[in-house]
Amino acid sequence: MLNKLSVIAGKSSEDLARRLSRKINATLVKSQVRVFADGESKITLNGDLSKRKTIVVQSIYPPIDTNLVQALSLISKAKEKSSEVIAVIPYMGYARQDREFLPGEIVTMKVLGKLFKGAGASKIIAVDIHSIIGLKHFTIKIKNVTAIPDLVKYFKKLSLKNPLVVSPDQGGKYRAKEFAKEFGSECIALEKKRDGKTGKVQIKTRNTDEVIGRDLILVDDMISTGGSIIKATQFLKKQKCKKVYVTCTHALLINNAEKKIKKAGVTSVVSTNTIPGKTSIVDISNTIAKAIV
Ligand code: R5P
Repeated sequence: MLNKLSVIAGKSSEDLARRLSRKINATLVKSQVRVFADGESKITLNGDLSKRKTIVVQSIYPPIDTNLVQALSLISKAKEKSSEVIAVIPYMGYARQDREFLPGEIVTMKVLGKLFKGAGASKIIAVDIHSIIGLKHFTIKIKNVTAIPDLVKYFKKLSLKNPLVVSPDQGGKYRAKEFAKEFGSECIALEKKRDGKTGKVQIKTRNTDEVIGRDLILVDDMISTGGSIIKATQFLKKQKCKKVYVTCTHALLINNAEKKIKKAGVTSVVSTNTIPGKTSIVDISNTIAKAIV
């Protein structure tokens, strides 16, 4: 066993874990995963762990439950060897289930709070968790870091025409405001309505003159099916804006969402590497490293 810090690279976050281990000068321990025919994960660690502190990096994106069980298993193994285990969960799946929206709904975030503690984590680091209500379900320390400064840095390099930051809904207003403040532009938030049962999205804003002839940056925490961004883009294009750029921390992009978003008229989608993929061009390992040391 080692005295130096160790970073376990969960299968869903191999590249991010490697970058992070370099930044905090820790030993990288890779995990080997074999998924059985019935869906069970068999995990083997390749290397020794620190006696002092181990950082497990595993994002919980689809297959969500598989990646969650793998995260818990890695934390549990790390706790057998290290006195302190920090779980870095770059994308916290289930974070949208942070309250009982309709009677009888289970608040799965509360269950996750118990599971991470039970597995042996003493601290969690998440990135732009869907809502801060989710943080209340954890009884261990949880630090929510933001990728907004990293995303802004990217957009500052582009030459945009009279840019305006837009939130696709009122729930994301503060996030968009933070982006706009850092970016140095104005900001507006649309009114979005999602049907609680079907999940269908509608933009309720009637019209807005502020967008005419301007390049827009649509800012959201995550893109799943792309429904919210597509509806917002279609509305903004009708209002005669110029280009529409989309940025988010977590790009799940389920069912060809990127293609559908582009078809709606979006120039480009820029996300971070909390979820690896084609649009994940902004690296947030530095931001996570700062939260660890
Ligand atoms: C909702 O409140 C979130 O911030 C996102 O706007 C939403 O989860 C994105 O989902 P989709 O891409 O399926 O519309």
